Amino acid sequence: MNSEIEKFYEKPWAERIRLIAGECGLNPEETQMLESLRPADFEILNRMSENVIGGFTFPFSVALNFKINGRDFIIPMAIEEASVVAAASNGAKLARKAGGFKAESSAQHMSGQIVLTGVKNKKAVQEIKKRKKELLEKASAVDSVLKERGGGAVDLETIKEGEFLEIRLTVNVLDAMGANAVNTMCERIAPELAEISKGKAFMRIISNYAVKRIAKASATWKKEDLGEGTVDGIIKAQKFAKKSVYRAATHNKGIMNGIAALAIATGNDFRAIEAGAHAYAARSGKYKPLTRYWKDKNGNLVGEIELPVQAGIVGGTTRSNPMARLGLKILGAKSAKELNECFAAVGLAQNFAALRAIVSEGIQKGHMKLHAENIAVQAGAKGEEIKTTAAKMIASGKISEGEARKILSDGK
Ligand code: MEV
Repeated sequence: MNSEIEKFYEKPWAERIRLIAGECGLNPEETQMLESLRPADFEILNRMSENVIGGFTFPFSVALNFKINGRDFIIPMAIEEASVVAAASNGAKLARKAGGFKAESSAQHMSGQIVLTGVKNKKAVQEIKKRKKELLEKASAVDSVLKERGGGAVDLETIKEGEFLEIRLTVNVLDAMGANAVNTMCERIAPELAEISKGKAFMRIISNYAVKRIAKASATWKKEDLGEGTVDGIIKAQKFAKKSVYRAATHNKGIMNGIAALAIATGNDFRAIEAGAHAYAARSGKYKPLTRYWKDKNGNLVGEIELPVQAGIVGGTTRSNPMARLGLKILGAKSAKELNECFAAVGLAQNFAALRAIVSEGIQKGHMKLHAENIAVQAGAKGEEIKTTAAKMIASGKISEGEARKILSDGK
């Protein structure tokens, strides 16, 4: 196979498919999967990325029952993992009984880093500070729309790290995720900073450690709905996650199941949100769970989540991807602030539902039930057989590919 294909990006779609089919030995059925996209959809996808040959479909689902700050939300989720959407809906349904989620979000501030090296001017820090206002104005001027709406560069700090002099820019990105605005601002003021410092601006880039963009959510789950054992179990599970990084990573992965799914469904950069969340989980120097749980005076379970969420409702893919626009319409968040509050609530619901299952019946029972049809397909079931094989596996409590094969061969 040759992976060096000259000017691949300039080739028309059909030619790209023909070339890849030839190199990778795709059969007509597989080629057809690439060709099945509507040409208009190809155009959209082709604008979003490079060397596009087809579309990749994810289930687009909705998690229900969410009440956040007294308002109902239907949460769009794009995720391939069985039971995530059901678990979130379930966590929200039980939280709803005690009023739903209370959520809040800080200002939508992102940071950018301009890193200088070889600084020769001993008074660089003082001079940069002296010219702060002018530098902030210059940075803000790169995005006139943001500026008109009251956003833009709001602060600038200097941090000396050995041979590096970092200029950390804070930008109020309002309703956008903000990466483009922040990166452009960093690149715009970097030459001036290099000149002032008589050094070299060798990096100019956004920071995904979005600690000035924090979302929080809390909820109460009633003792009578969970049973005292489960309330205690969830509190203990969080305690264990604080001690064990092995557990904390999985604990937070469950939170990100819901958060990433909402990010994808609304055209937001889930990698940025993930990076920020995990870095925040390690802010004390030890990687810890992003949620905490305790009992209220009546013995009900109270849960809380706090994490940076860098997501927006305008700009980037939120506008260029029609499915993302649809996701945002379904969600109905009116600002990035409200969107990020939804993220926090979803993360908390997801974590609660996972912990509840883990400390009681385990997750595999529910998960495998939802996954049974996939397993039947993997074992070779077709058409009607898929549902009947899955149903037989669920009834017997034995859900595995081996069992599905046995059911299929018994039926022949
Ligand atoms: C699976 O995708 C996520 C869980 O492992 C999360 C957790 O263990 O808390 C169920």
